[in-house]
Amino acid sequence: GKRWRIGVLPGDGIGTEVVSATMQVLELLRDRFELGLDWQELPWPSTAWHQHHGEMMPADALEQVRKYDALLLGALGDPGPLSDVGRYRLSDGDSLAPLLTFRKGLDLWACERPARLLSGAPQYLADPRAREVDMLVVRENSEGEYVNQGGRLHRGTPFEIATQVEVFTRAGTERLIRHGFQRARQRLAERQQSGDPPKQYRDTVRDAPRRDYHAQVCLITKRNALPHWGELYTEVFQSVACEFPEIATHHELIDAACMKFVQSPWVFDVVIASNLQGDILTDLAAVLSGGMGVAPSCNINPDRRDVPALFEPTHGSAPDIVKQGIADPRAMMLTAAMMLAWLGVEDERCALAAKRVEWAVQQDLLNQKTDRAGQFERGGPGSPRSTADILECVLTLIASPESKIE
Ligand code: IPM
Ligand code: MN
Repeated sequence: GKRWRIGVLPGDGIGTEVVSATMQVLELLRDRFELGLDWQELPWPSTAWHQHHGEMMPADALEQVRKYDALLLGALGDPGPLSDVGRYRLSDGDSLAPLLTFRKGLDLWACERPARLLSGAPQYLADPRAREVDMLVVRENSEGEYVNQGGRLHRGTPFEIATQVEVFTRAGTERLIRHGFQRARQRLAERQQSGDPPKQYRDTVRDAPRRDYHAQVCLITKRNALPHWGELYTEVFQSVACEFPEIATHHELIDAACMKFVQSPWVFDVVIASNLQGDILTDLAAVLSGGMGVAPSCNINPDRRDVPALFEPTHGSAPDIVKQGIADPRAMMLTAAMMLAWLGVEDERCALAAKRVEWAVQQDLLNQKTDRAGQFERGGPGSPRSTADILECVLTLIASPESKIE
């Protein structure tokens, strides 16, 4: 069978802890289910900058990673003192976070961040309907607010002006929005297969909406204040929507969307957002799915399987809990499951292994709730569960006979 080459970047802080746990899960899966996975570690933490004041990764890092089929990344970023703001400076003089160099350099223009509340995961909202949260935020990942154009005029004077330009292209907008609709169509098909009762959505954008919709795409903008971008997004949204007559369409302004993510997040299905607004919205969405400890994420180019997709949890390097052995590895494990599902498009064993990881994490969350009642509740007694304990439970689950791949 096919062999997949994985580049593993543990990165900084808890990145190394959750990656090391997750690699043990992948190792077990590989042995047990004969997955064609080979991996190699790329030790490029940004702490190298602090230690050597040199570069954090080789000058040809982007070229080096192109040979892999996928990249699995823990966390990159090591917030030092504010004066260290230039610590991300790469050899080409760019001073963006290194993660952005990968996303942009590999043209991984779609960032997918699912938010589904797994049973047993902390539920931060009191409303019982928060159990039903099941959405996918598709974040633009290559342009918009993150183009890093602009500068500082009259630096250091009282007349200083900093500009930070946002760039939205029609091509970038169209591919993003079409991908969002395609994912909504896929999710609908999956829900229909699962036999769950169909969800009902309203269309608030079309002139003559149908009566019945079982999937929806919601577009996020700030078109009342940022009209050039807002109109482009809206226009493209309406025209792409014609290709998907069975999907309901809806629009929210970003500020109202934040409110509704807290007030009634269960009404959302697929949400399309710009780079920065998607960044902010997905931290909020992560809390709805049980917190950063269980929020996976991927950066992909849906049209290209010949460039490595980059899989990294939504969380960062979490310097506040580093080296305490309490980082929750389950976001990283679910992220590895997203990687296996991506490879699984061409390799059935990987697709099944992805399901096993999801199943084991879900099972572990349920066990946690029943076996250790109260201990992990917000504000309750007890200490957080250790990385090692979660790892051991997940490994045992995957090794159990229940976890066969047929
Ligand atoms: C994320 C992170 C990054 C982002 C940072 C590290 C640049 O917050 O992946 O969500 O803003 O995209
Ligand atoms: Mn973020």
